[in-house]
Amino acid sequence: MSDVSRPSPAEPRTEARTAVVIPAAGRGVRLGPGAPKALRALNGTPMLIHAVRAMAASRAVSLVVVVAPPDGTAEVKSLLDAHALPERTDFLVVPGGDTRQESVRLGLEALPPDHDIVLVHDAARPLVPVDTVDAVIEAVREGAAAVVPALPLADTVKEVEPTTAPGEPEPVVATPERARLRAVQTPQGFDRTTLVRAHETVTGDVTDDASMVEQLGERVVVVPGHEEAFKVTRPLDLVLAEAVLARRRLNDGF
Ligand code: CTP
Ligand code: MG
Repeated sequence: MSDVSRPSPAEPRTEARTAVVIPAAGRGVRLGPGAPKALRALNGTPMLIHAVRAMAASRAVSLVVVVAPPDGTAEVKSLLDAHALPERTDFLVVPGGDTRQESVRLGLEALPPDHDIVLVHDAARPLVPVDTVDAVIEAVREGAAAVVPALPLADTVKEVEPTTAPGEPEPVVATPERARLRAVQTPQGFDRTTLVRAHETVTGDVTDDASMVEQLGERVVVVPGHEEAFKVTRPLDLVLAEAVLARRRLNDGF
């Protein structure tokens, strides 16, 4: 582009403003029947509010864009109005799409121009510590085009030839070396131009944003994730999340 003042992905972006897109439009099918997952309560507060607070806890974050269930934007707006955020943090609410990828794209389209770093964070990871958020932002500021927090795996992973019949034994195809594998979390951080280009270019199904940037041939780097950044996916994860909150309450003394 002709805008020569914009840093290329290889240069530091120390002054860049950071926005977060929070996809929260999923139903939460694996969690079982009930309200959309992001609106379910953890210790009395909706998961989405925990996630928004986790992002707003970073002093670098000046805008949070929540991508709400299409039939739930009004409810999400009033929830955000009812739960105070830091003064420095603005928020926007937009309706989501049929897939996570579509929801993130709709969130990106709503971003005002003055944010050069974009984080994408699952509403379903409500407990990520602020240090993880800051580490991701820092790595993008230092010049990485795409940054993902990730952890080593506890389980050995097998690649299989999936069968269609449920319960049918599946042949193992390969066992990747566990020490080289990482389980990827969010927030994932991006140079905004790179992420927008990825969403405009990549059409195949993906489960995270960084893989779209990989498909562009851009370098993606991993920084240490955190065990409290786990995704609330199944009913047992709700038990774990509430236990983490209870432990924090004990440690913080309130
Ligand atoms: N998401 C979204 N729009 C969709 C689907 C998912 O914004 N159409 C969001 C979810 O709200 C969640 C994040 O993407 O915050 C990660 O997705 P996942 O954990 O799979 O949540 P759900 O899709 O809601 O759960 P499930 O797959 O069990 O239905
Ligand atoms: Mg899903």
